[in-house]
Amino acid sequence: MGDTLLIRAGLLNPVDTDRWTFHREGGLLLDGDRIVDAGPLARFHDHPASRVLDVDGVLVPGFVDVHIHWVQHHVRGRFQSDLMEWLREHIWPEEAGFEVDDFARRHAGAFFADTVRAGTTLGMAYSSPHLSALRLAGEAARGDWLLGNAIMEKAAPEPLRQASPDNVDQVAPLLAELGRERYALTPRFALNCSAGLMHDLGELARRENAFVQTHLSESVNEIREIRAAFPEARDYTDVYDRAGLLGPRSVLGHCIHLSEREHDTLARRRAWIAHCPSSNEALGSGRMDLAAVRRHGTRYALASDVGAGPSHSMLHVMQRFLAQHRQAGETVTPQEALYRATLAGADCLGRGDRAGDLTPGKRADFVVLPAPDAGVAAEDWFEELLAGEARDLETRPLQTWIGGAPVQPDP
Ligand code: GUN
Ligand code: ZN
Repeated sequence: MGDTLLIRAGLLNPVDTDRWTFHREGGLLLDGDRIVDAGPLARFHDHPASRVLDVDGVLVPGFVDVHIHWVQHHVRGRFQSDLMEWLREHIWPEEAGFEVDDFARRHAGAFFADTVRAGTTLGMAYSSPHLSALRLAGEAARGDWLLGNAIMEKAAPEPLRQASPDNVDQVAPLLAELGRERYALTPRFALNCSAGLMHDLGELARRENAFVQTHLSESVNEIREIRAAFPEARDYTDVYDRAGLLGPRSVLGHCIHLSEREHDTLARRRAWIAHCPSSNEALGSGRMDLAAVRRHGTRYALASDVGAGPSHSMLHVMQRFLAQHRQAGETVTPQEALYRATLAGADCLGRGDRAGDLTPGKRADFVVLPAPDAGVAAEDWFEELLAGEARDLETRPLQTWIGGAPVQPDP
């Protein structure tokens, strides 16, 4: 074995929707950027490691954010009463600025400094339509990121339409160049794309087994506009389904106002929902019907949806997930919140074999959270930590490790 490092610290590891493992005194053994072993510290007494490090805190897998707009990072939290008004008045004019490389470079640096600070080590992000901004973000990325240029062929301000690919022959070479592990096909939402273009993108996605990210059923006004734009479709979900855009590598943001038929379609296509509780709350979009999602067995992972979401911190997203659904009488646990913000996200992004928890063979991506006081149960400690995050959006993990090394937010 080469350069091994034993970290002695607390360990909290997601298992599934209602279980985690917690070791107040745990050990994490790394070899370079990989995890070799993790468990109670007693197990490591006879295990020679090249180095030993004592960390005062609890190690938790790096957070996964499956839906975030890096180009909205610095205008996050500018609430409006309605999605469509917010997009048209605040967001689209802002995104037009990413045509300028210096502006894009500066904001990409700030975005990834903040995701590192927040403990997000894996994610999928929307870029603006500009290809130069997409490439700059790819160069600036810290951690493991999938990115996609928002395709806005129509019903958008002229500068964004001008910058956007408007046929699949412009998109296919990007996918070939960046690869399906890094690049996601990103028809922004159905209002910005014709049925023909979405169909071509759907064919490309199927042929290349590519990720697709888009928005679905977020606001009532948006759905009204979709009905008028696609009278031939049975509903919003059907617009994407007809285009062949729904499959196991499709990640659909929001999915709030779905009918039973639409839920059934998503489940049958094995598509993923990016559940964005803090964003849904901020724009007054409504609450995702968690009971229906569970009933249909649809897969979902948590996401911040910055800039509609006010904070890129997945601790904050977890807190709003618990608060929002509990208020509606649903049973949700901190175990599930952690699972949905880590392992489920890694599965959603096709990285379940490499990331999402602290098990042997996976990449050593984790965060250090402040340890619980003596005698405090793991559940109470974790809930209190999330509540602290909700009171003060600036609460951060003590440290973020990516690929077996601690990273500084500002490079
Ligand atoms: N629908 C289309 N574009 C967007 C966006 O940028 N943010 C959100 N929340 N919804 C969208
Ligand atoms: Zn979004």
